[in-house]
Amino acid sequence: MLPEIVSEKFEMETEIIKAYGDPERDAALMEKAGKIIKDGGLVAMPTETVYGLAGDALNPGSSKKIYAAKGRPSDNPLIVHIAELSALDRIVSDIPESARKLAEKFWPGPLTMVFRKSDIVPLETTGGLDTVAVRMPVNEISREFILASGGYIAAPSANRSGRPSCTTAEHVMEDMNGVIPLIIDGGEVGIGIESTIVDLTGETPCLLRPGYINLEMLSEVLGKVDVDPSIGGVVSPDAHPKAPGMKYKHYAPKGELYIVKGPQEKVVEKINSLAQENRARGEKTAVIATDETRHRYKCDIVETVGTRDKEETIAHNLFRVLRDMDDLGVSTIYTEEFNTPVMGMAIMNRLIRAAGHKIIDC
Ligand code: TXA
Ligand code: MG
Repeated sequence: MLPEIVSEKFEMETEIIKAYGDPERDAALMEKAGKIIKDGGLVAMPTETVYGLAGDALNPGSSKKIYAAKGRPSDNPLIVHIAELSALDRIVSDIPESARKLAEKFWPGPLTMVFRKSDIVPLETTGGLDTVAVRMPVNEISREFILASGGYIAAPSANRSGRPSCTTAEHVMEDMNGVIPLIIDGGEVGIGIESTIVDLTGETPCLLRPGYINLEMLSEVLGKVDVDPSIGGVVSPDAHPKAPGMKYKHYAPKGELYIVKGPQEKVVEKINSLAQENRARGEKTAVIATDETRHRYKCDIVETVGTRDKEETIAHNLFRVLRDMDDLGVSTIYTEEFNTPVMGMAIMNRLIRAAGHKIIDC
């Protein structure tokens, strides 16, 4: 049976308020935001990875509202965000040694760990699972906000389901205007792609979603780490990746996106020839390139996503560039592959899903 996609009509004024990451200057804003959450409402918050759409994780009604606001299938669980390690005990039934080690090294930060849940976490928050994903962000604004809201915030990325995640408050406004009362504006996020997710409920830790903290960094702490087969691979609609969200089409721009891979010379040549054919057919085409290659493309629209030598720039700009493609109204997009040393797996995981697995080898 297909999971229910909850949709509801929302009509409200959406306010954007700037935060500073300073408890004194943010006091009034945090009080206002915390009250909305405690009353069962939703607020968008910045984190170091992407913006989140926050609700009270321990209130089933709030989680239902999150699914409805995003148009998200109800079997796709939410991450619970905490601000202090001491908050973990109440929401998980046990804390494995592996989690303690990871927390010591990577929390607060862009790492989510999956635990067995305790009874106080509603199934509405975990999409019906008996496990719960938990993350402690490092972003000061999100931490102030979590504390002002009672300590347990369920927050998926703040985009409408299927759209690229939001890296600025303006992107959240594009997707959530009229749907939520408040967006906390913490400026542009730092990392730009979502947290790494690791499942610690099995015998061997398992990477469910790659992120800034990569497999090598996890293995340094944990030893052997399995990789969920769905990562970067072909995910069919009836596959069962351990992170349910990984089976859904995601990040996709409206135009058809193709990844062109191979030696750089050939990639440039191939994209130029495809772009020329498209132009002859009157199709508006764009190329996603890097600073190193952008000048080599003969195409009307060439957007650079970053610099290969500074791979964090590519992660940082990826979702913005995918959103720009919609604003430009292009019908076909060709992108280079970005298999960079540290974050390549995370970047390509997002790009492959955005392209619906359309890859041109050359
Ligand atoms: O960086 C992030 O993680 C951002 C910010 C806002 O913190 N949040 C985020 O949430 O990316 P979302 O909902 O867009 O992605 C959560 C992913 C989904 O793929 C979901 O299926 C998976 O986490 N997930 C959540 N709970 C899980 C669980 N108990 N077991 C396995 N996967 C889980
Ligand atoms: Mg998401």
